Order: sequence, then structure tokens, then C-alpha cells
Amino acid sequence: MSRIFNFSAGPAALPEAVLANVREELLEWNGVGASVMEVSHRGKPFMEYAAQAEQDLRDLLSIPENYKVLFLQGGATMQFSAIPLNLGFLGSKADYAHTGHWGKKAIADAERFIEVNLACDTSASAYQHVPHEDEWSLSDDSAYVHITPNETIAGVEFAWLPKTDKPICADMSSTILSREINVADYGVIYAGAQKNIGPAGLTIVIVRDDLVGHFPENGPRLLDYSVMADSDSMNNTPPTFAWYLAGKVFTWLKAQGGVSAIEQANIAKASALYDYVDASDGFYTNPVSKENRSRMNVPFILANSGLDALFLEQSHKAGLHALKGHRSVGGMRASIYNAMPIEGVHALIDFMQTFKTQHG
Ligand SMILES: Cc1ncc(COP(=O)(O)O)c(C=O)c1O
Repeated sequence: MSRIFNFSAGPAALPEAVLANVREELLEWNGVGASVMEVSHRGKPFMEYAAQAEQDLRDLLSIPENYKVLFLQGGATMQFSAIPLNLGFLGSKADYAHTGHWGKKAIADAERFIEVNLACDTSASAYQHVPHEDEWSLSDDSAYVHITPNETIAGVEFAWLPKTDKPICADMSSTILSREINVADYGVIYAGAQKNIGPAGLTIVIVRDDLVGHFPENGPRLLDYSVMADSDSMNNTPPTFAWYLAGKVFTWLKAQGGVSAIEQANIAKASALYDYVDASDGFYTNPVSKENRSRMNVPFILANSGLDALFLEQSHKAGLHALKGHRSVGGMRASIYNAMPIEGVHALIDFMQTFKTQHG
């Protein structure tokens, strides 16, 4: 067996120790004589496991008692509709920060249900920064403020939260569990699992309880936070294997020292890569303004785009996979989520240096 360093933006690398543990348990889980995929979600073994997974996530993020934690399906994309449906009762419009591709998608879906005020918009400048708060226009009568704290494609991360008395709704798909946050600063936090939590198919929603229970009468029941909260996220069959695997990742993260420890590791990984790019005499560049550079998704552009295909071919042969940048940005992108060890980043930097020496 030879495992590569996987820089995929998502579905993304999972901790190897977790996968090994899952392999051990695959045929027989928890003494039940079957795989976890083959048992009822309503049986005691799974219910207990699921509750422990939730508790571990609560511990990792110090989630206050007055927040519900939901384990849902439909991806982060489903939340683009669920948010205006659940929180629309607070007002007739909502403020959205348009700081990247995913924010744009969230806006397009929200507009089907609520009037959207663009609090800021960096689409004309290729999403390379988060505008200073002085440049934002928040409305007095909005129901909530939606942000995408880390835009996965352009690699743009918020360094602060907007000051507002409205609930902040944050799409944390590509940053959750990578850094310490104060959950109480948010009304809703949501994330597709397939980057820092587990496999695709699971979506985590953390929602303040006063925002639950105001869903439109005729709205789709499975998007109603109160329906899912009242049923412990089991109104219908939950994605049991993804939930199980997320629980394993939470246990692994605790063993790494929790979110504060992984944040330090993430800072070390991202700094090493950005420092190398910045010192490469323009052979590689990162276009994002320094204070908004993402710790999770690091795009880098080769000055000579004619070398892109060769870079990808050779890096792939060197065991460094999925480095192709998103088509809207071009160049390369290294996604270095929690599960990417520092060794992977060092291997990438070594490769980049060799490639530069050969082609610079
Ligand atoms: C920031 C962000 N939001 C939303 C999505 C969409 O997530 P999903 O595919 O789970 O709907 C992604 C996917 O990469 C993402 O990076």
C-alpha cells in the first residue's frame, strides 16, 4: 500500500489513523456482529455512539448549552436555502457578504426566499480580499448577516467578524475545527463534512435555540431546524456511516490536543507554504491580500502558465495529488486541512523548489 499526500479541496484527506481504525472495525463494530453501516440508527449502540460524537464536537468547539447541534444531509448547499427559511421570520431582508464563489451561490439561493442586501462585494476584483468593515453596508432591518469565513476556491479567509446585533450565519465548510472560534458570536454555523469532519454526505449545523421553531408552515419539513432538533437529527434515516466516521475524527482531534493545538499546526503548515511562495522570486505567487490568506486553501500561480501541465504531471508522479487550481483562479491550489501532516507540506515545498530550479 502506498498512500499519497492528498491536497484535494474536498472530499479531502482523512487522518490515516482514523481510516486504519475504521478498517479494523469494518466487519464487526462495537461487538454487534455487523458493520456500523448495517445496524439501525435507532438501536442503542448507534444512538449512544451518535450522542457521544455530538458531545465530542461540543467539547471541541465549547458549544454552549443553548445551541443545537444537528447532523444533516444535503450538503452546505442545502443550508443556502435552509437559512433564509428558518431565519426569515426575523425580517424581510438579509445581509450577505459576497466574498467568493460560495457566497455567491448562497446569495443566489437565498434570493428565492428573501430580499438580499449585498453587504460587500469583491466579485469585480476576483475575490482577493475581504473589504475593510468601513466599506460594508449592513442594513438596520435585516434578519441576519451571512458570511463565508473561508472561501475555498480563491483561498480567502476572514480575520474578523462584522460588528452587528443580528445573528451571524457562517458557512464554515472549509474552516470548521481548523481554528478556535467563539460559537456564541454566531446564530448559525454550518459546514459540509467533507473537508475537516469526515466523508461527504453529512452536514453539521450549530444553531442558537431561539432561532429554531419559526419555520414556514408549508416549507419542506426536513429543512426545518426544529423538526431535526426534536428528533435528534433522526427524523429520517441519517447518514450513519458518515456520522460514525465524523465521531472518529472528533476523537482523533481530541487526541491531537483539540482545536487550539490543531490551529497551531495549521498556522505552521500555512506559514511554511506562504513563506516559500513569497520567497520564490515571483516564480510562484499568491494573489490574496496577506491578512486574508486562507490557512486551509493555498492557491499559487506559476508565472509561466505554460508550465502548469508539467507541474501537475510531475507533482502527481512525486505522490503529491490534486494540486490543480480551480478553473476560475488557474494555477495550483493546495488544500491543507487538519488531516494534512506537516510532512506533506514539506514534501510539496521540496518539490516546488526542485521544479523551480529545473525551470526557473
Ligand atoms: C465554503 C463552501 N461552501 C459550500 C460548499 C458546498 O458544499 P456541499 O457540496 O456540501 O453542498 C463548499 C464545497 O466545496 C464550500 O467549500
